[in-house]
Amino acid sequence: MVKIVETSLRDGHQSLFATRMTTEEVVKLARIYDNAGYRALEVWGGATFDACLRFLNEDPWERLREVRKVVKKTKLQMLFRGQNILGYRHYSDDVVDMFCKKSIENGIDIIRVFDALNDLRNLKQAVASTKKYGSECQIALSYTTSPVHTIDYYVELAKEVEALGADSICIKDMAGVLLPEDAKKLVKAIKKESKLPLELHSHATAGVCEMAYKAAIEAGVDIVDTSLSPLSNGTAQPSTQALAISLKGTKYDPKLNMDVLHEAEPIVTEIVDKYVVNGLLNTKSLQVNPNLLTYQVPGGMLSNMIKQLSDQGAMDKYEEVLREIPKVRKDLGYPPLVTPMSQMVGTQSVLNILNGERYKICIKEVKDYLQGKYGKAPSKVDPKIRKKIIGDQKVIRCRPADLLEPEFEKLKKKYKGIARCDEDVLSLALFENVAAEFLKKKYSDSETEEFEMFI
Ligand code: CO
Repeated sequence: MVKIVETSLRDGHQSLFATRMTTEEVVKLARIYDNAGYRALEVWGGATFDACLRFLNEDPWERLREVRKVVKKTKLQMLFRGQNILGYRHYSDDVVDMFCKKSIENGIDIIRVFDALNDLRNLKQAVASTKKYGSECQIALSYTTSPVHTIDYYVELAKEVEALGADSICIKDMAGVLLPEDAKKLVKAIKKESKLPLELHSHATAGVCEMAYKAAIEAGVDIVDTSLSPLSNGTAQPSTQALAISLKGTKYDPKLNMDVLHEAEPIVTEIVDKYVVNGLLNTKSLQVNPNLLTYQVPGGMLSNMIKQLSDQGAMDKYEEVLREIPKVRKDLGYPPLVTPMSQMVGTQSVLNILNGERYKICIKEVKDYLQGKYGKAPSKVDPKIRKKIIGDQKVIRCRPADLLEPEFEKLKKKYKGIARCDEDVLSLALFENVAAEFLKKKYSDSETEEFEMFI
């Protein structure tokens, strides 16, 4: 029997309409999903945290608590980026520790962590803290293809992940580029070397995902990630119902309660329709795009990039930017295109094309990356590009977080006028201005005296 993780409440709407599902919508569905027989519901982390604060005027921690209240039988899963947590810089170990502690206290059962560069030094603290506070820790291997990202590379990585203390392993194919034959080989090779449960997370973007899932399932993968239709396919995961029906009567039957899924469908339809009407769900995100097998652009990155370009009236440069992406990726030593590398490579590619000269303007994050501040590049960075961007500046070789002093207490002090609990401090640490604005409003709505403090 293959187990299913339902992703519509996190990755589904993150990939299709920029993570705008509201807490009310999430809770409504989570309550129903609880009876479906999933291994877990992915409900938190990724971009949900930022979107709550930035666009929805909602407290992400409250979302988690609300979901936990109605989900009694099913595990809740979240995703975060190791030492980056959910932000775009490295945080000190004590902040990572506090984030794990509070996520688990507020209701998370499974923490999936990954590092964009597969630099496991960036996951050490997250794994230790997740275990310390009693949650299941899954390490996701950022999957991509390149001259260095071979099957042997991933098998070695899986062994290291097991040694680091993970409870399960996930092949995280954020761009949906895993082909069926590779899925089969990869799953077989990892299962041979590791006893840990193995999960496959992919995206339907390129149209090969369902075949890859089938190949992976037959090769022995234990868990796959799907999203309830119609919040599925395109840049999101394949349909939960379609997979469940396809596997019915086989030894892989996930045994989901189809009546429960049917009950949820009209609600999902209504939500999806709302985002079609308001334009946040661009129909481009729903088209099968096999060209992405060349560009390797993950769903979230693609929908953001489409938005970036259309905001600037530069959608005519879409194909050109797509072609620039693999070039930038090669220059930077083949980083897998997942947050934060996807944003870096995406934005840099947009700049390279819109400015008419490559690396004429270079974003700060790319400079930091070239200085080693995100960890070790998977392969050699183009020395000419490095020189053009950072000149002779020193490159750090150690675990980047080793250079950071503990900062949680300092942050607590810094935000003492705004934060009322450790969760608030974490929100501020991750999304400073956005969180400050949100919290000021949140607390001023409840108390007028407080309001005066902030004017
Ligand atoms: Co994903």
